[in-house]
Amino acid sequence: MKTQVAIIGAGPSGLLLGQLLYQNGIGNVILERKSGEYVLSRIRAGVLEHTTVQGLEKAGAAERMHKEGLVYTGVELLFNDQHVRIDFEKEVGKNVVVYGQTEVTRDLMDARPATGGVTVYEADNVALHDIDTAAPYVTYTKDGEAHRLDCGFIAGCDGFHGVSRQSIPADVLKSYERVYPFGWLGLLSDTPPVSDELIYAKHDNGFVLCSQRSTTRSRYYLQVPLADKVEDWSDERFWAELKNRLPAETAVKLVTGPSLEKSIAPLRSFVSEPMRYKSLFLAGDAAHIVPPTGAKGLNLAAGDVQCLADAFDDYYRNQSRAGIDGYSERCLKRVWVAERFSWYRTKLLHTFPDSDDFERKMQETEFNQLNLTENAAKTLAENYVGLPY
Ligand code: APR
Ligand code: PHB
Repeated sequence: MKTQVAIIGAGPSGLLLGQLLYQNGIGNVILERKSGEYVLSRIRAGVLEHTTVQGLEKAGAAERMHKEGLVYTGVELLFNDQHVRIDFEKEVGKNVVVYGQTEVTRDLMDARPATGGVTVYEADNVALHDIDTAAPYVTYTKDGEAHRLDCGFIAGCDGFHGVSRQSIPADVLKSYERVYPFGWLGLLSDTPPVSDELIYAKHDNGFVLCSQRSTTRSRYYLQVPLADKVEDWSDERFWAELKNRLPAETAVKLVTGPSLEKSIAPLRSFVSEPMRYKSLFLAGDAAHIVPPTGAKGLNLAAGDVQCLADAFDDYYRNQSRAGIDGYSERCLKRVWVAERFSWYRTKLLHTFPDSDDFERKMQETEFNQLNLTENAAKTLAENYVGLPY
């Protein structure tokens, strides 16, 4: 098989890139290790910035999101008994759309057949070859049969554990990493959300997030020790602890019910630089991870692939290498801003096992500044709704 761009991974990055390239008339083939059903079974965050919404529009996959997505004009932050509402409309005149990443992935998957683009699911042993030349290729096996895909470029959209980043010589890459001493236990339930805005709350027992997927489906998270297992958390224990960490007036409104899904995710900050090596371009989680406290993971991925689609368009349409040569630098600028924001919010809103009294006072003071200074609230709003890519 031969194509212009070989895309490794059919998560949101790979699927969105495939659609954007198709809109620009650029041929592409997606190779995904798992089945389509498996990809759709992963439950992830769901806050879409304006530029992500625009990306889905450009990709022709925004119709259901516009119908079913919930527009949020602000967010609630709680710190023990302090409270602040950050009003996005007032601070920066923008909003965000809450629409689950699973639904984004489904819409992109559904849009793909109309492009005629090939997606190979359950592609095993994907390996990248000759990435330091202008004629790279990818080999893989499907149903035990060996295949070869020749291409002009490779887009590594295969997540943190994918093969693409690992194919770059180690001495070319520099990684930056912070692993946090806790995880998030998430629970999805068909219960009405406790609030019609997202609530991020810090309690001495740990952080809580009240989020939602629709007016009838809620998503809640609790900060838990890294050693905890999902089996340690019955639904009853989860709901009791969630109520305990919320202010009494919110806790009384909480509607509980059986969990549809429960999982624990570790929190990590990670960036690998540069995001391009010769004919290989990394995008999304393959290049960087943020802790979910900033709701930036999917948005960074969507920004990367929009940059990359522009770069390939410039190359194939105008024979200009400016976009592909500037890709890594352009993305990393935005990536680091989101990394800083996600790290700042994680530090602000979690209970750190080893922090001392002084650090706890600093954390509380940082929070109080959101109420005291207009600039602090504005900066938070500006970062939360997202910067241009
Ligand atoms: N070969 C082929 N496919 C692979 C390989 C491989 N060796 N390794 C991984 N993959 C696939 C995975 O199965 C997955 O479907 O690549 C896809 C990567 O998808 P994601 O992990 O969802 O990453 P990305 O598309 O960059 O999306 C970023 O996902 O993790 C969240 O918070 C993150 O919201 C952000 C978004
Ligand atoms: C979610 O709805 O899953 C969600 C929302 C906001 C976050 C993280 C996760 O910051």
